[in-house]
Amino acid sequence: MMKNNEVVKKLQKHYESCKNVHMRDLFAEDEKRAEKYTLSLENMYFDYSKNRISEQTMSLLTEWAQNCGLKEKIDAMFSGKKINTTENRAVLHTALRNLQNTPVYVDGKDVMPQINEVREKMRRFSDAVRKGEFLGATGKKLTNIVNIGIGGSDLGPAMVCEALKPYWKDGIKCWFISNVDGTDCAEVLKNVDAETTLFIVASKTFTTIETLTNAKTCRQWLVEKLGKDAVEHHFVALSTNAKAVAEFGISTENMFEFWDFVGGRYSVWSAIGLIVAIAIGYDNFEAFLAGAEAMDKHFKTTDFSKNIPVTMALLSVWYANFFEYKSHCVVPYDEYLRLLPAYLQQLVMESNGKSVDLCGKNIDYSTSSVVFGGAGTNVQHSFFQMMHQGTQIIPIDFIIPANSQNRLGNHHNILISNVLAQAEAMMKGKTSEEAAEELQKAGKTPEEVAYLTPFKSFAGNRPSNMFVFDKITPHNLGMLIAAYEHKTFVEGVLWNIDSFDQWGVELGKQLASQILPELEGNIAKKHDNSTSNLIKLIKNLKE
Ligand code: F6P
Repeated sequence: MMKNNEVVKKLQKHYESCKNVHMRDLFAEDEKRAEKYTLSLENMYFDYSKNRISEQTMSLLTEWAQNCGLKEKIDAMFSGKKINTTENRAVLHTALRNLQNTPVYVDGKDVMPQINEVREKMRRFSDAVRKGEFLGATGKKLTNIVNIGIGGSDLGPAMVCEALKPYWKDGIKCWFISNVDGTDCAEVLKNVDAETTLFIVASKTFTTIETLTNAKTCRQWLVEKLGKDAVEHHFVALSTNAKAVAEFGISTENMFEFWDFVGGRYSVWSAIGLIVAIAIGYDNFEAFLAGAEAMDKHFKTTDFSKNIPVTMALLSVWYANFFEYKSHCVVPYDEYLRLLPAYLQQLVMESNGKSVDLCGKNIDYSTSSVVFGGAGTNVQHSFFQMMHQGTQIIPIDFIIPANSQNRLGNHHNILISNVLAQAEAMMKGKTSEEAAEELQKAGKTPEEVAYLTPFKSFAGNRPSNMFVFDKITPHNLGMLIAAYEHKTFVEGVLWNIDSFDQWGVELGKQLASQILPELEGNIAKKHDNSTSNLIKLIKNLKE
């Protein structure tokens, strides 16, 4: 049973009484439902009216959040308390966008001066690359910027660079190498020219095998083309581990630091955002930080009933723990946001995919949803059939910039008409009477009508949220991402878990390091029969 049994019991009872209510009826009963259930911050609107909720639902969920000490936990996070208990670390991605520069203390030390120092270093460096003052070894401008990183050291910068492509400086191209599959590296290296390429090795720990392997391969490639002395002109590092960076051969002058109070999946606001700053310019990068800062302020100071991230999280737990819906879909209707679902997969699933609570006890309720998605309208032609008529119900977030960055004929109106139609269809559905009537009007025989009606009916009552804002700008993107970060945090509070560790990724890493020498030599270690057999099989197939 989840924390705060009494409220949870009340919620359970409430759920039993409203689980069969159809949203069609909720909209029919209240002409102002959309206005009632729309929140806003600046030019960003969050319409959550198409959810299976009433005022009572929201009030009970809020009571639950209050009883879980949410207010105190928010304050604890922002003020640098070590809320990542299993790693004994503060969680301060919010300090990275604290442009007000109010002091934030960890172990009695204000972390803002060091954050400001690195930001200033990023500003100087990104300006120098953009202006052609920091040049390659042969005196050429660095126009191909390659980020080598994985997980949080890749997904954030890759997503933000893609989302803000219209802001890229002319002539600059961004590339990303993450997978240790040599193909990822090879395909990028085929497309860039050593003299104009800057490699950014992004790794919080600087021990991640994928990133170090890719970085070594790129360094070797560069040395073969331009010689050893070229490395310092073409490589910089982003890390918390100065020693490992130096051992790799990158001088601390070319290293941009961040700290263990910044989780990998929350690090795009730190030095990990260097490629973003180079691509869009430091001022735009700061506008991105400012957007997140605006959402931080909203999250920290707004009453829970009007608080966007808190509401997102309350809806999420309502579905996960009462309706027992296991997945959550995110569909931006903007091609520039197509990497957002992948980014959110790490944010949500690495944060909240946990099965012990903060006391280390096994828990018996659902935690993280399976997060997936893709850009609309494309996904309408792939998995949306299931969203409309499958046996599993999957709550969905639609994200809609009201203006496209590329105004081509009526493309954008077609796009918008589609997203609104999808949400309406999921909410309303189509009754069997409506389906039968349509079939009759289309001239079908009574037999055909009877046969086809079940296939053409839609139960509806499928929840969705709508994020609407004017257009994708650095500021709006910052707000949006910060909203999802805080939503994830609130979920973790309600589930009483540590949202900031990721021990689950370790076991696979440990085992892979044991298997590697077996693939490369003649050793055979003890595994389960399937693993041993697969090692043998693959070795036989290798050319
Ligand atoms: O996948 C585990 C993880 O530790 C992530 O949390 C992190 O974002 C990623 O690996 C990369 O780690 P690093 O930045 O230390 O290379």
